Amino acid sequence: NQFPEGSVTWKSPSNIALVKYWGKFEHQLPCNASVSFTLSNCHTTTKLSYNIKSTEGFEFEVYLDGERETGFEPKIIQFFERIEAYMPFLKNYAFRIETSNSFPHSSGIASSASGMSALALCLMSVEKELLGEQISETEFKQKASFLARLGSGSACRSVEGPLIVWGEHPQIEGSNDLFGTKYPYDIHPNFSNYQDTILLVDKGEKQVSSTAGHGLMRDHPYAEDRFGTANLNLKKLVNIFKSGDLKSFIELVESEALQLHGMMMTSVPYYILMKPNTLEIINRIWQFRKENGSHLCFTLDAGANVHVLYPENESSIVVPFIKSELAKFCKNGSFIEDRVGLGASQV
Ligand code: PMV
Repeated sequence: NQFPEGSVTWKSPSNIALVKYWGKFEHQLPCNASVSFTLSNCHTTTKLSYNIKSTEGFEFEVYLDGERETGFEPKIIQFFERIEAYMPFLKNYAFRIETSNSFPHSSGIASSASGMSALALCLMSVEKELLGEQISETEFKQKASFLARLGSGSACRSVEGPLIVWGEHPQIEGSNDLFGTKYPYDIHPNFSNYQDTILLVDKGEKQVSSTAGHGLMRDHPYAEDRFGTANLNLKKLVNIFKSGDLKSFIELVESEALQLHGMMMTSVPYYILMKPNTLEIINRIWQFRKENGSHLCFTLDAGANVHVLYPENESSIVVPFIKSELAKFCKNGSFIEDRVGLGASQV
């Protein structure tokens, strides 16, 4: 073989959904379309080294921050099983996966989106090298997103930026269930370089994983309404992004976050991932907005942490507010200042 060994490295960011993906069909296909801001500072860097082998089966080792980490193995085996049909060389190589996150370990920030997209991109680079195929950058990124989706649904929205749609939607050209695509229409300058400060409220293990949460949408009493509302919200966002209407943006994004948690609270069995400090923060954001006419708003992923979104030109009033009034509700006062980014890059 021409390529008995080698290595590639990719850095891939996390993302934060504005319209949430919550509920999936077989093969990691989403029950509704979603859209997210790609982030910038929160990212995973993964180096994938490969060595040809003659033994059977998958073979790999994972290192997190230089230390052997066996905890990710079941997820990666499942990922390899799902993608093997599209990456037939997987069993011919032994892999060493060296990964590190820019955000603190167990900060409660999910590393699955950045981690799975980084790994998918590495595998794409390996495939490209092994096959020596001429593949366009568009095809490369599409397939990377397709593979990332099979690792973790929302990971398919981390390959590119700044605004990525995933899930077929009648109003969004090119959107589809298989991989994330760049939002194809005008985005008003009000939304350029949008800021996201992530308040680390709780670093603990979630009582209910995202996988279990998606599963509970299957027999959820409000599932159909939720999927319909999400698709409608995405349609509304198209006009909001065009007009730059920040007030409508805030209403839509906060409603989406609360609906996501509303689904958890009305699942059978029900559960709550927000913590008292999550609500303290939300109330203070509302109060600050009322008093200052600012356009900051919050969103949540499947956990207790709060993402505070705001236009860049409001940083000078919002950042001091976060530091003086919101940081005290965070674990050890910790938060991460991030902003919208352009997607993954090869290192
Ligand atoms: O990609 P998963 O299976 O971890 O699901 C993530 C779902 C949310 O983060 C809650 C919403 C989203 O669209 O990212």
